[in-house]
Amino acid sequence: MNTTTAPLDLCATDDVADGEIRRGELPDGHPLAIYNIGGEFFVTDDICSHGEASLSEDGMLDGHEVECSWHFGKFDVRTGEATAMPCEIPLRVWPVRIENGRVCIDPAACDA
Ligand code: FES
Repeated sequence: MNTTTAPLDLCATDDVADGEIRRGELPDGHPLAIYNIGGEFFVTDDICSHGEASLSEDGMLDGHEVECSWHFGKFDVRTGEATAMPCEIPLRVWPVRIENGRVCIDPAACDA
């Protein structure tokens, strides 16, 4: 169990331009996708639930949806909901905290 209370720092907000996706990871190497949508940040698992595509490498943002370029499935990055076939399994979303210009997630979420 993770006992730290410090936020888990993923990157600087400046590292992710508006409309772009950057890869991040948990301390155990679990890959994450970090999205900047109009200055609001979201974090989901990086690997598409339909296949093995990396959404940070092969995804494209369209509003609050990320489209996986492998088979054109989509997810809502706010909820993880699969919004276009062939994707059916939701993506895990991670609660974002912005602290001192850094994109962080709550370590308590990592224990779930
Ligand atoms: S791997 Fe993402 S839609 Fe198929």
